[in-house]
Amino acid sequence: MEPHPDLTAQYAPDIAKPQFLKDLFDRGAPHYARAERIVSLGSGFLYRKNALQRASLAPGMRVLDVATGTGLVARAALQLGIAARDLVGLDPSAGMLREAGAPVAFGAVRGVADALPFADASFDFLCMGFALRHVGDLRATFAEYRRVLRPGATLLVLEISRPSSPLGYRVAKTYLQQVVPFVTRLGTRDDDAERMMRYYWHTIDACVAPQAILDAMTGAGLRVAPRKTYFGMFSEYRGAKR
Ligand SMILES: C[S@@+](CC[C@H](N)C(=O)[O-])C[C@H]1O[C@@H](n2cnc3c(N)ncnc32)[C@H](O)[C@@H]1O
Repeated sequence: MEPHPDLTAQYAPDIAKPQFLKDLFDRGAPHYARAERIVSLGSGFLYRKNALQRASLAPGMRVLDVATGTGLVARAALQLGIAARDLVGLDPSAGMLREAGAPVAFGAVRGVADALPFADASFDFLCMGFALRHVGDLRATFAEYRRVLRPGATLLVLEISRPSSPLGYRVAKTYLQQVVPFVTRLGTRDDDAERMMRYYWHTIDACVAPQAILDAMTGAGLRVAPRKTYFGMFSEYRGAKR
């Protein structure tokens, strides 16, 4: 079950999506920090940290940050007292991991969400920030998350969802499809950074409905909490391994 249909206007049908994504994020990596600050108006790190606190992340836990990118979620976990030796960031993009400073600040592994290179029941907490839209298969991803979590462990997925109100949708579309790529271009003067931020909106717009994500979590055997939303578009999906 794909998180969105193929976006053939964004990548040629003959280019495999994983290769397109690796290239997109490798090339955009040097500019991700600035682009993220533009999208979130500077609030992104605090939002991630608060979300981890809301999900009861606590020192002593062994944590996996899937799609760690430049390590924003992982660094928030470090600030909340998670030891670097207990924290692993996983991402398919070597460029992103380089920008993260991994493996200096925390352990780093290259890989994808739906084929995790970890033993069963390895982690107490698994988080994923703003990347569920990029996985190959939602069901396989949640099955993998369940497999690597210990019984009772927590899953936290942060994602942006298409606003359901017509006004919210228009505002989000204008901001993310037009303003953010334009300002990113001005701030970075870089084609790859602008391309990365254009792709951002397309995946949000095409993504399956939140209920399909909750159903995929439940179908994988996770105990699922009701979705929390902030500002009509920041979704927090929380689950636990029974
Ligand atoms: C928008 S960034 C999010 C980075 C970080 N989690 C954050 O909160 O800022 C998306 C990340 O997802 C990664 N990614 C793309 N496809 C993936 C996959 N199939 N599995 C895991 N990560 C993937 C990209 O390489 C990129 O670093």
